[in-house]
Amino acid sequence: MERENPYKVIPAEVTEVIDESPTIKTFHLKPEKPIPFKTGQFIEFSVPGIGEAPFTPSSSHYVVDEMDVTIMKVGFVTEHIHRVKPGDIVGLRGPFGSCYPLEKFKGKDVLIMGGGVGMAPTRSLFLTLLHDIDQYNSVTFLAGARTPEDMIYKYQIEEWRKHEKVKVLRSVDSVPEGQSWDEEVCLVTKLLEKIDIKPDGNPVVVCGPPIMMKFATMDLLKYGYSPEDIYLSMEKKMYCGIGQCRHCVMGKYFVCKDGPVFTYEMIKNEENIWE
Ligand SMILES: Cc1cc2nc3c(=O)[nH]c(=O)nc-3n(C[C@H](O)[C@H](O)[C@H](O)COP(=O)(O)OP(=O)(O)OC[C@H]3O[C@@H](n4cnc5c(N)ncnc54)[C@H](O)[C@@H]3O)c2cc1C
Ligand code: FES
Repeated sequence: MERENPYKVIPAEVTEVIDESPTIKTFHLKPEKPIPFKTGQFIEFSVPGIGEAPFTPSSSHYVVDEMDVTIMKVGFVTEHIHRVKPGDIVGLRGPFGSCYPLEKFKGKDVLIMGGGVGMAPTRSLFLTLLHDIDQYNSVTFLAGARTPEDMIYKYQIEEWRKHEKVKVLRSVDSVPEGQSWDEEVCLVTKLLEKIDIKPDGNPVVVCGPPIMMKFATMDLLKYGYSPEDIYLSMEKKMYCGIGQCRHCVMGKYFVCKDGPVFTYEMIKNEENIWE
């Protein structure tokens, strides 16, 4: 069978751009042909003449002919991505890497923790679980941001909370003057104290800044989650996305090929995983 060329870029039209926060935007994309992916995998997003960078789609993997990508402006490529407008054509290649093992989540109480732009992959997972929510016992989504204006997907929260088996708790680290917030004010990890924790063989998925993933993992272990049930979406600098350039090496793993989704059990003995 002929293998797809992993360097092949699929043109995609930007159909909408949503300002999520002062530094984060969500791009609705319509690729020239569907890019089926599994939630947790990543794609390379390029702006013609500028360059490309890896991002995890933030939409459900059941939506195949369109894709959402939520992107924080941090440097050269993301700065240019933030300039694209509806009607512009960008490039996508992929999907690459590992995904969340949904088969193992069936019938379980799934806990999801997302911090900052780390809510992007976790929203993809959350929307994918919602698609066939009957297959899961419950889904609890803990979402954190630095301030209310940094909280993304605000416009979807009420809709998500309507589902009987779903609980969504949100927290911000602080509320600066001039901003308002009527939910929790604490670190996202503190939200664990506000839910009924059921660690026995149930999965928990964490994505956020390295410091948040580190403290969340330590807390989850204290609550009794086992390292095999803690799923982490790791981010390392990437270039090729397909295991050729070694930019993403983390101990014995290539994050682009063996990850980005790892259990804590897989990586707990590797060095510098939280950097
Ligand atoms: C598998 C994967 C999925 C990702 N998903 C998302 C996502 O859904 N949304 C999102 O906003 N970002 C995501 N990222 C991070 C995103 O790829 C980087 O922010 C982007 O590559 C930065 O490119 P730049 O040219 O704008 O920044 P640069 O100018 O290259 O760097 C600016 C700053 O960002 C840091 N940086 C660069 N690349 C990365 C990286 N890969 N991880 C962490 N820090 C980095 C640099 O050290 C520097 O401090 C993901 C990264 C990976 C590896
Ligand atoms: S990004 Fe090139 S080896 Fe992983």
